[in-house]
Amino acid sequence: MCSIIGYRGFAPAARIIVDGLKKMEYRGYDSVGVSTLYAGRIETRKGVGKVAEVDNSQRLSALPGTTGIGHTRWATHGGVSASNAHPHQSNSMKISIVHNGIIENYQSIKQRLRSEGYSFKSQTDSEVIANLLQKNMELTGSIRESMLRTLARLEGSYAFIAIFDGGTIAAARFKEPLIIGLAQSAYYLASDVLGFSDQTANAIFLGDKELVIIDASGMEILNFDGEEIQPVVTKIANEFLTVQKGEYTHFTLKEIYEQKSTILRTAEAQWYDSRPILDRLTSCKNLYMTGSGTSFHAAQVGSYLLSKYAKKRAEPLIASEVQFLPCFLDEDAVLLAISQSGESADVLNAVNLAKKKGTEIISVINSLTSSLFRESAYSIGLHCGPEIGVAATKSFTSQLVVMYRLASHLSEGKFNPNFGQVSLAISQILLSSSKIKQIAEQDLKRVSDVYVLGRGVNYPIALEGSLKIKEISYVHAEGLPGGELKHGPLALMNEDVSVILVNPDDCTHADTLTGAHEIKARGGRIIGISNVYNEIYDSWIEIPTVDVATFPIVESVPLQLLAYYTSIEKEANPDYPRNLAKCVTVR
Ligand code: BG6
Repeated sequence: MCSIIGYRGFAPAARIIVDGLKKMEYRGYDSVGVSTLYAGRIETRKGVGKVAEVDNSQRLSALPGTTGIGHTRWATHGGVSASNAHPHQSNSMKISIVHNGIIENYQSIKQRLRSEGYSFKSQTDSEVIANLLQKNMELTGSIRESMLRTLARLEGSYAFIAIFDGGTIAAARFKEPLIIGLAQSAYYLASDVLGFSDQTANAIFLGDKELVIIDASGMEILNFDGEEIQPVVTKIANEFLTVQKGEYTHFTLKEIYEQKSTILRTAEAQWYDSRPILDRLTSCKNLYMTGSGTSFHAAQVGSYLLSKYAKKRAEPLIASEVQFLPCFLDEDAVLLAISQSGESADVLNAVNLAKKKGTEIISVINSLTSSLFRESAYSIGLHCGPEIGVAATKSFTSQLVVMYRLASHLSEGKFNPNFGQVSLAISQILLSSSKIKQIAEQDLKRVSDVYVLGRGVNYPIALEGSLKIKEISYVHAEGLPGGELKHGPLALMNEDVSVILVNPDDCTHADTLTGAHEIKARGGRIIGISNVYNEIYDSWIEIPTVDVATFPIVESVPLQLLAYYTSIEKEANPDYPRNLAKCVTVR
């Protein structure tokens, strides 16, 4: 997934574009580029690296002109190189484009254009958009016609922005997010409100198969059939207006520390459609929960809680697997789709597949302006504020809080989790973060392999812990149900291996300790995350005692901190882990 941005106004465009790209950098950060229009000529500068680095080396923000576009890349087609970085200019140099998504039929378009004399400088799929626009401009002489003809030719998923040497900026979206920002005498276009939310709070969320053309006479929005669309202006929620790190070194650490208050915000948030949501969840014959990455782990915890406390069977499905799974998605089923961003393509794909079978969609999302929000019958917001760190942290614990609230509602009040107690426990754990830093340095920095074990509802938390360690510290980590170690992975146990036991004093405690002795017997180092000490632990991370049911929320925080500090010890950048992006909008 990439980030794209455009500006047309009276201020120097390049500075605004570079600042906007910095705010959206979590969407992709292997290369960057900017094009601006000045005195009828488009100039492009781009390079490999993060925005600040390339801005420094290529002086991106010094580009002249009050109209421009910019891009940060997460490579899909063509390696990480300056020639594959966006923007891409057409052969005539009169058009420049930035693109997010995948043009699935780019090879046939490229072949055809090549046969008509066009040449290509990159290996990307995106560059065909620039030359196709040029071809259609030369055929029609109209930007509107050239856009419509080009869109009729493209297959796949895309949001792209183009600038033309006459001063017009045009953009279109199909399956990828694109938002227009309206200011006094300026227009912004971006993949995420964060790209311009410090400039204006007035936004238009472009619908699927819609395009926008902005020139000296103003703005027009059309659908792909060329019909005019009346835009709806939305006020961006305050929490999305400014996102700063404050006194924290990284967004990831800031977002871990925010959890003592964000879980309370999620616990107290009003659910507008709670009655119909709870009725549907109660009455549906089959209930499925789906998500990708961290959100899938929240679905696993949710399935456990609904079965245990509400006697409601709910099957967790990995979103990218739904298309291959034989499941009973039909008009009697509900699919609870969990996604922080609401833009993960695998989740949207699973949702579209289910909708085709008549299944009702209820979503749990952080971004209430996302594609998933628009695809859902009902949505439950996390209200934990924007999450910038690529590895999900506060959104995970807020997703868990929503799962607990659902189980409580469906248990007809028999199950009442105490979120106040959980928030206090998290505050206590944050106070001992220096000890966790020490353990990361001592037990995780130098090992080749880490196993994270948990039993029962602690197993998905173990999976989440191992994902965090993999995502941001580049150490191989595997999450396992505690009882499975002896059925294979134990063969890999030796002094170079650390094992994290997610081991609260609940029904799984004794069995997990039994497994610990098998590990110890083969030389493995044991880190125990528990509210009770045991001498088998080489390192103990104490968590406060809370109601047994809510240990999964509390024990997630030390796992996040272990991953964060291991990343620091290994001199990685936890906010922008290599090869990843905050949400992946391509399948
Ligand atoms: C990945 C992120 O791209 O997508 C993970 O790196 C995240 O942190 C996963 O859990 C799913 O994202 P979302 O937005 O659908 O919850």
